[in-house]
Amino acid sequence: MKLFDVYPRWNIEPVRAQGCKVYDKNGTEYLDFYGGHAVISVGHSHPGYVKKITEQLNKIGFYSNSVQVSLQEEYAEKLGRASGYPDYSLFMVNTGAEANENALKLASFHNQRTKTLAFNRSFHGRTAIAVSVTDNPKYRPPINKGLEVVFVPLNDWDAVEKTLKNRDISSVIIEGIQGIGGIIVPEPEFLRKLSRLCRETETVLILDEIQSGYGRSGKFFAHQYAGIRPDIITIAKGMGNGFPVSGVLIAPQFTAVHGQLGTTFGGNHLACAAAIAVLDIMEEEKLIENAAQIGDYLKHELAKLPLIKDVRGSGLMIGLEMEEPIQAIRNRLLFEEKVFTGATGTHIFRLLPPLCIDREIADEFIKRFKKLIICK
Ligand SMILES: Cc1ncc(COP(=O)(O)O)c(C=O)c1O
Repeated sequence: MKLFDVYPRWNIEPVRAQGCKVYDKNGTEYLDFYGGHAVISVGHSHPGYVKKITEQLNKIGFYSNSVQVSLQEEYAEKLGRASGYPDYSLFMVNTGAEANENALKLASFHNQRTKTLAFNRSFHGRTAIAVSVTDNPKYRPPINKGLEVVFVPLNDWDAVEKTLKNRDISSVIIEGIQGIGGIIVPEPEFLRKLSRLCRETETVLILDEIQSGYGRSGKFFAHQYAGIRPDIITIAKGMGNGFPVSGVLIAPQFTAVHGQLGTTFGGNHLACAAAIAVLDIMEEEKLIENAAQIGDYLKHELAKLPLIKDVRGSGLMIGLEMEEPIQAIRNRLLFEEKVFTGATGTHIFRLLPPLCIDREIADEFIKRFKKLIICK
């Protein structure tokens, strides 16, 4: 059987990884400034993470949600403390799209409304409702017709106010920091006004923190820079450091109804072990503080380089907008300088290194990047 060819792929195969570095079959070492698409949080193959999952697998790897899985409660308790949401409830699923899908469903069960408000340049995943609130018609199959979504520009308060005032929107879904959209940070005052108006109009506010959350922004959640408390928060990516696990954090005003939501794999023993290990390591190694510090340092140093139009983002979610298209530089970075980076659009690098990156690796990246843009 052949693979269904859905991805353009580089001709490189990482077979081993450690911390912020990955190694291909020939033993060539690469700096990881992509984090496997913002997924690697505590670092590749962290010994504490490997140990926890291995020990769990030797006990029990999976049963089902028809029995007690106390690891879920243990994880929820830790997550509540680490994130600043101890009074919220947790529903565990497997992927980012699935977390958003459940968040949007829960909002609609809650207020019985059908429409959603989303933002231009958004990305929320590939399942049916998640892709309908993603601002890219190319991703949407004809079967999705009928789901009503209003798209407005990010930070456009008048457009939001006009739409929400009709009181027929079930939920607003917004990324903590837009990732695929180009590392665009919502204005804190915009978020505060949005949060207030959602409350007044009984609209559910869903914060998609799948890419921007879990410490990547330099706070546990990017929206915490604005001091708001959304009704629902979705998490994935860094939560499992590569183990597929995601979650929906749900405010106390929502009531759980048996039968409305469910999953076979969500919250399985191995997923919980991975998520617990990640939180423990993040706390022990102070990785959120590290993300804030190294992120500031990188932004400060990168802003000094030529050909840079803008450096934006927060913590280790950095957008580097260049004055020229980046494809050639990005390829040379990978094949000559051995550095993985992310990109979005034609001109923007997305830097998403593991949160355990240190100053030495940051300097090494700057050195390799600088060499390429200076000798272009
Ligand atoms: C902000 C955001 N939401 C949702 C998703 C979808 O996550 P997944 O690919 O795990 O379904 C992504 C993935 O890149 C994302 O960046």
